Amino acid sequence: MSKKILTLFMVSMFVMTALFTGCGAQKEQAQAKETKEKVLRVGCNADFAPFEFQDVNGKEYVGFDMDLIRAIGKEMGYEVQIQNINFDGLIPAMDAGNIDVIISGMTITDERSKKVQFSKPYYQSGLTIAVKNDNKTINSFKDLEGKTIAVQIGTTGAEEAKKVKDAKVKEFNSSADTFMELKIGGVEAVVNDRPVNDYYLAQGGSKDAKALSEILTAEDYGIAINKNNADLAKQVDAALEKLKSNGEYDKIYAKWFGAKK
Ligand code: ARG
Repeated sequence: MSKKILTLFMVSMFVMTALFTGCGAQKEQAQAKETKEKVLRVGCNADFAPFEFQDVNGKEYVGFDMDLIRAIGKEMGYEVQIQNINFDGLIPAMDAGNIDVIISGMTITDERSKKVQFSKPYYQSGLTIAVKNDNKTINSFKDLEGKTIAVQIGTTGAEEAKKVKDAKVKEFNSSADTFMELKIGGVEAVVNDRPVNDYYLAQGGSKDAKALSEILTAEDYGIAINKNNADLAKQVDAALEKLKSNGEYDKIYAKWFGAKK
């Protein structure tokens, strides 16, 4: 009899311990989730001034996109954590669940919209061609035929360059590398986003390069959000709208591009 009671006692102790630890673990998990939910993991390719790049010390991510996403995160009550990833690795990183959103001067395209959901457009862009200052042969997109062109891997610029007949397209990991290639004479032209070309030229690049006035495409930048997170997309759009209506967006815009025309 006493043995039976002892067994019963032990069994109930066991069950209770299991229950308590179970609860504890559950609580811990919930807490972890709560703190995790306060962090917005942002992916970008930080070599695309003036949208995302590293400051002179290479310590901080700065630029129009960086200011904008920090303001959006603040509006949503999230802490923003930036991760620097190759441009063509950004959507795969989001697919793998390593980042929650992408802001990276990323053009809203039909192809990408199959994989991610985009916020409302936040910047109007397009492509231009940069060539050496003394180049007399390339004056328009058509003149690129048969030429060597540098582009960044996975970009709309790369797609556009590949449409050029008989052109040799050299692909690089960053837009900075494409400008370098032009400078050292490895290519005759760079096809890249207009504001990025303009910024490069304004920052000293115009010593040996120039941009053609022709604008090849009309493109809108959007913030990409995981397709499985409809709620996050709504929050991002609401925050963006708020920043546009309260003047914060205009302030950030003016800081990087001057007052809007
Ligand atoms: N707008 C172009 C695209 O979406 C180029 C973007 C490149 N962005 C970057 N951070 N490197 O393809």
